[in-house]
Amino acid sequence: MLTRRHAISLGLSAGGLGAVGAAGGLFQTLVAGGTAQAAQTGATPVAPFTVPFVTPPVLRPVLRTRDTDYYDVRMALTSHEVLPGTRTDLMTYNGSFPGPTLRTRRGRTTVVRQVNALDMPTSVHLHGGNNPVAMDGGMMDTIAPGRSRTYVYANDQPAATLWTHDHAHHMESEHVYRGLSAAYLLADDTEDALGLPSGKYDVPVVLRDAHFDENAALLYTMDDAFNRTTILVNGKPWPVMKVEGRKYRLRLINSCNLRIFVLRLGDASPMTHIGGDGGLLPAPAKMPVAVLSPGERADIVLDFSQYAPGTQLVLENLIGPGPTELVGKVMRFDVGEKTPDNSRVPDVLNPRAPLPTPTVERSFTLKMDADAATGAGALINGKVFDPARIDTEITWGSTEVWTVSNTSTEIPHNFHVHLAPFRVLERDGQPVAPTEGGLKDTVLLWPGQSAKLQLTFDSHRGVYPYHCHMIDHSAMGMMGQMKIS
Ligand code: C2O
Ligand code: CU
Ligand code: CU
Repeated sequence: MLTRRHAISLGLSAGGLGAVGAAGGLFQTLVAGGTAQAAQTGATPVAPFTVPFVTPPVLRPVLRTRDTDYYDVRMALTSHEVLPGTRTDLMTYNGSFPGPTLRTRRGRTTVVRQVNALDMPTSVHLHGGNNPVAMDGGMMDTIAPGRSRTYVYANDQPAATLWTHDHAHHMESEHVYRGLSAAYLLADDTEDALGLPSGKYDVPVVLRDAHFDENAALLYTMDDAFNRTTILVNGKPWPVMKVEGRKYRLRLINSCNLRIFVLRLGDASPMTHIGGDGGLLPAPAKMPVAVLSPGERADIVLDFSQYAPGTQLVLENLIGPGPTELVGKVMRFDVGEKTPDNSRVPDVLNPRAPLPTPTVERSFTLKMDADAATGAGALINGKVFDPARIDTEITWGSTEVWTVSNTSTEIPHNFHVHLAPFRVLERDGQPVAPTEGGLKDTVLLWPGQSAKLQLTFDSHRGVYPYHCHMIDHSAMGMMGQMKIS
């Protein structure tokens, strides 16, 4: 069993954190976490920056009507060349790793028929989606092997980077790890009018880690944060992306089970954050880092016209666990000639609506005991998940403030709420960074931290979960249910 301390150990010296000072106290816990390092037990038969970056295919509708797009997706075991010259068996959506990107826009309805050709039950959840319970891909609402299920998404919400992934209870962590994960990009007219980089300059970047054995098989062990030291971007290890000297919009999605990324460009120049989980930020925010815990998204614009053609720019990751030579690098941008660019990032993106007045306050504590892996100790408010139990009764239409605390002393957690996006009012009493200033659905909690979230429950009614999105933890039971009625 892992020493918990390792889950937050740094992969680099504390001094390397100087450049991220803007994020304030966020990193102090990490520094205190020490520099213990994991032994790499798996195979990494590939050197970083030797494999080309790829963009996942875009899912094509089988039928389009005036207001609806119909898609067919098959979940099946397929084999892929992930590490050069080898094959890896993966659980895929339509044979693609990660799954194909679904691109749609507000006002159009998406109908996805999911066929389960795997030998395990699955459940398809649209993370960040505003959908009725029957379409939410609940933990217990699974598709049996050989059966199919049709999900309908009204897309009645602002433009955002959403994420499709498996949610079959106790199995979601392994299924996502083995490949059931895909970007879902929702556009709208408001976003189009801004003139942001678009088309081939708007690129999903699905990040994750993995543990391969000598035969390139993907090894899955529950809560094994630290042997997963091969970093994959859109399913490729440490790829190189050839970019033109112009602006790109990158939709970063942390699809890891446990790994938190603190991303920074090799030259420490600021990244322009334009969006988070729930869509565009009020205004662009320049930050030298992008901090992403599992399930979180960051929508950033990078302007490569500021680099001389020939520049090689590494996207680094400043934290462990794992050896810096492996987990300290993510991908590389190789900058080409300048090309014409009429895209822009306006000073105002998405003005914030005033917050309604909350009438209910609640608190949630997340804690992991040493025996969590046995199924007894991954707790929210002292309880392990029970699908037969409603933990939180909510009155439809109400606005609430939730104080969510990570009472573990060494393990980070995060907190994801289905259906209702939230604003993060503060973390440990401090205002959050502007990169967290938009709507969110997942919030990071370092050991000992707490955050105040404000949520309004004015869309669908019914029973939805909230959980730690370090999904090895939710698979162990760090999950609760709210009933909105
Ligand atoms: Cu990303 Cu309960 O989901
Ligand atoms: Cu979700
Ligand atoms: Cu957790």
